[in-house]
Amino acid sequence: MTVKHLKAIQFFALTGFLLLASCGGKNNTDFSNRKVSFNENWQFYLSKDSNDTIIDKNQTRTLNVPHDWSIELPFDENSPTGIGGGALNGGLGWYVKTFKVAEKDSTKITSVVFDGVYMNSDVWVNGHHLGNRPNGYLGFEYNLTPYLNYGEKENEILVKVNNSKQPNSRWYSGSGIYRNVWLKTTDKAHVTQWGTFITTPVVTKDEAVINLETTIKNEYPEAKELVVTTTLFKDNSEIASVSKKINIAANRQHNILQEVKVNNPVLWEVEKPEMYTAVTQISLNNVVVDQYKTPFGIRTFTFDLKKGFLLNGKQVKIKGVCLHHDLGPLGSAINTRAIERQLEIMKEMGVNGIRTSHNPPAPELLDLCDKMGFIVMDEAFDMWAQAKTPHDYSNYWDEWHKRDLEDQILRDRNHPSVFMWSIGNEIPEQWNDKGAEIGRELSAIVKAMDNTRPVTAAMNPPIIVNSGEVNIQFQNTADKPNALAASGALDIIGYNYAHQTYEKHPVNFPKVPFIATETTSALATRGYYDTRSDTVKMWPKRWDIPFYDGNLGNTVSAYDQVQAPWGSTHEATWKIIKKHDYLSGMYIWTGFDYIGEPTPYQWPSISSYFGIVDLAGFPKDVYYMYQSEWTDKTVLHVFPHWNWKEGQTVDVWAYYNNADEVELYLNGKSLGKRSKQNDDLHVMWRVPFEAGTLKAVSRKDGKTVLEKEVKTAGEPAKLQLTADRETIKADGNDLSFITVDITDDKGVFAATANNEIHFSVKGNGKIVGVCSGDPVSHESYKGNSHTSLNGKCLVIVQAAKEAGTITLTASGDGLKENTITINTVSDQEE
Ligand code: GAL
Repeated sequence: MTVKHLKAIQFFALTGFLLLASCGGKNNTDFSNRKVSFNENWQFYLSKDSNDTIIDKNQTRTLNVPHDWSIELPFDENSPTGIGGGALNGGLGWYVKTFKVAEKDSTKITSVVFDGVYMNSDVWVNGHHLGNRPNGYLGFEYNLTPYLNYGEKENEILVKVNNSKQPNSRWYSGSGIYRNVWLKTTDKAHVTQWGTFITTPVVTKDEAVINLETTIKNEYPEAKELVVTTTLFKDNSEIASVSKKINIAANRQHNILQEVKVNNPVLWEVEKPEMYTAVTQISLNNVVVDQYKTPFGIRTFTFDLKKGFLLNGKQVKIKGVCLHHDLGPLGSAINTRAIERQLEIMKEMGVNGIRTSHNPPAPELLDLCDKMGFIVMDEAFDMWAQAKTPHDYSNYWDEWHKRDLEDQILRDRNHPSVFMWSIGNEIPEQWNDKGAEIGRELSAIVKAMDNTRPVTAAMNPPIIVNSGEVNIQFQNTADKPNALAASGALDIIGYNYAHQTYEKHPVNFPKVPFIATETTSALATRGYYDTRSDTVKMWPKRWDIPFYDGNLGNTVSAYDQVQAPWGSTHEATWKIIKKHDYLSGMYIWTGFDYIGEPTPYQWPSISSYFGIVDLAGFPKDVYYMYQSEWTDKTVLHVFPHWNWKEGQTVDVWAYYNNADEVELYLNGKSLGKRSKQNDDLHVMWRVPFEAGTLKAVSRKDGKTVLEKEVKTAGEPAKLQLTADRETIKADGNDLSFITVDITDDKGVFAATANNEIHFSVKGNGKIVGVCSGDPVSHESYKGNSHTSLNGKCLVIVQAAKEAGTITLTASGDGLKENTITINTVSDQEE
């Protein structure tokens, strides 16, 4: 981000504030402390014994949250989390923080807000137990007011996080206060937590009707007459405002309904996600005492039996990916820029949908999806009452599921990017009556909170043996009907995999639209390729049967040829989805590799191979197949690298678009032209290797569209450093992601170089993560050195709060040292 860019943001923030301050009641108050960050200066201690009942305050260290302690630990083959959990331990952790509350706030309500703590947290303030929350993915808040000291006397908040019972997740969860924490101060008359619900029941070209439902609480000891004013803004301009007077008894809360009309509404689209803001102000005796902002969007959508997904009346194929919540080397500790980078990389590939597999995401992810234009499937659970791992959420199901699901809907229902609720993923109960019973119960809970979005579930494939909706059978358990699919609880039939059955959907489910909730599960290690000659020699099966076979080693070829037995290649599923309008779209497993659940499900692998992009954020080759299909960008991507043994036969693939043909040359000699036939998604040449330059030329009507070269690299000699952003904010959070490419002395990318690289940093920032994307590497993501994978490595630096520069130096044996400088600028800076 440039300084100019930052200035523009400041300008809008300021004008936005002035505009907002001008609406509502007469005397405006400053609401800047309604919700302030409570992330800094926590004392942390990881218990040695998970039965500890008190914190050892002598052993704490100071840190800022969001924090994930598991990512700091060594990979451990015998970890109770298993390789499913990334072989990184959980444990029992404690966080304690002291703070003061100004005397002037003693007449207010002060609460602490946690966006998510994994898992099983207990919170105390000044020795008073405030509550326990088992679910690690939902936010919660506690009212601190009755227990606070005001003025100079300190308060202490203590959080116990018990992630010691393992395994409790099928993927890496992370441990600790891994999302943001806030201190909230409001008047005694205030909008409640997630207290607004904005819907748009009528949307036409000329007008949108906006319904505003607001929950207001009066915590004064007597009844109060309040005026609730809701003002709508578009791009900082006020466009409409409504006010209503209400009387609320002491210590009661009240829902009020308001309606506003917006002329010529600007609709939220995937390409142009236009947002509005509703500002709710509560006035007491003519003074505005509370102010609450709700960003929202105006759009219409349907899932149509024939045309699939329609957004604002236009057909949009959902080209989605599933994402787990970890951020690779940063673990699960959320960082807004890291999430934004993931979404940018996905957008660049043409992705327009995100499935928050298999849990409620960080609030910041949904904010970004609103702003960047993604079609979100917001998922609640990976299991219901029946466990998938011994200590998972099923243990808390009976007591918590209603509250947790309600909270998720309340929290997320104003996001225009959210288009459907998924009540579960591959839930074991789908095969028995409980599946229907719980499915209906959950669907009713959702509908009571939000009747504007459909409910689906990511089921296992219900294959119809006799056509008709009742005889739904699962392919591996032919005697068991899928009770959830048949229950009527779902507005959209969603199931995972079984792309071979998609074309039967209109017959099998003539009345319920379809979404491929999860697809593909193809496998690849970035930059690694099995050539035909190697494969035939070493693993005859590998070439002919593209399924992953556990005996084939822990590195997986990146030609789109290896898949989990239940999945498909990337091409196979997309070919079917793209063919039929009634298939509303797909969510590929997965956009990014994630920690845990490797396939090969065996040590030394500790992270997944499913990603289209690796754990460091480097695209695998198939990224460009999607880009050639899903974007307007002109694409020509040729692979593999060109460092082989003389005489070896190497398959050369090209993904391309906007051209009629591609011609391949080796050292100037043509190897022939190829064009995609029928539904082909790539072209291929089988080439006897000879060192030199491979060049591909795509042409349309005989004219060159693009040229790409791949060269044989000499010995690794240099390090090339490229930052995603060279100017970042000096706010203590912002990140620059720096890619290290190893090259030979002529600057040719050394695509097979696996060298250890050492990093050092000077100035106003620090290294917060290193990663090569290698699923078998056990080097810490938190170190200052890392071994590259196939020529690449990532290092992430974080800005301090003082503006200045960060200078990163990279070096390695036999490699010429290199440095890069990142500027960090404060919000006030020119
Ligand atoms: C699915 C499951 C995902 C992941 C995936 C791996 O069945 O829903 O969570 O495990 O398989 O292929």
